Amino acid sequence: MNSTSLKGQSALVTGADSGIGKGVALALAAAGANVVINHVDAHENAEKTVDEITAAGGTAYAIHADISNEAEVQAMFAEMYRQYGTIDILVNNAGLQRDSRFVDMTLEQWNTVISINLTGQFLCSREAAKEFIKRGVVEGRSRAAGKIICMSSVHEVIPWAGHVNYAASKGGISMFMKSIAQELAPHKIRVVGIGPGAIQTPINTSAWDTPDALNKLLTLIPYNRIGEPDDIGKLAAWLVSDEADYITGTTIFMDGGMTLYPGFADNG
Ligand code: BGC
Repeated sequence: MNSTSLKGQSALVTGADSGIGKGVALALAAAGANVVINHVDAHENAEKTVDEITAAGGTAYAIHADISNEAEVQAMFAEMYRQYGTIDILVNNAGLQRDSRFVDMTLEQWNTVISINLTGQFLCSREAAKEFIKRGVVEGRSRAAGKIICMSSVHEVIPWAGHVNYAASKGGISMFMKSIAQELAPHKIRVVGIGPGAIQTPINTSAWDTPDALNKLLTLIPYNRIGEPDDIGKLAAWLVSDEADYITGTTIFMDGGMTLYPGFADNG
């Protein structure tokens, strides 16, 4: 079997109805995985992602679940086991922003971001890890018993004024990812972070939808282009393949150089 193939593997991608999650779901399906498209609203968009996958010859279905709700997460996994038998790949992608100046930030804005971005990754990873440990490595399917991708951000390392809830959630994801990677590695489970920079998606429309906004954004990106969901999709598909079997417990930044402190290029 080709070592980038995900044939015979089942993947759950949270928040896969739009943006990076959709890009990842399409890329995993293109590599041969059966994909569960989780969404919390936008049911039509989730169905559109399923249609795109099936039109291209892949296998997918959409399921509604709020990933910050323990019972809904457990029901989503139970349904996945009914449909696909097991899970091989979890992509913890769902995330959101509720931006505010720090002194004006409400507890609700704080709690919403922490519960979706961080607690959601905890709830889904715990379910997946239980199944990976119970089932173990399946000969001929993958060298690992399971793979977990934790979608982070450049803001796991770049502080972000006006977005303290979001940056704190991403910094939390970094230590969450590393700590479970350390605990799960002896079970042949790999856990890897992806740190996207500015990717053209609905979460950051105001940063790219006018020429002025885009030009301002590009001053932060040495490589001088905004990223596409497909950039992240291809990286995720490779990271969960056997080609990347020796990678665990680290974040791969994919950001056109945003983490290179571009302000220092002609200063300091
Ligand atoms: C945020 C985007 C932002 C990007 C770069 C992402 O994690 O969700 O809104 O454009 O980081 O700052």
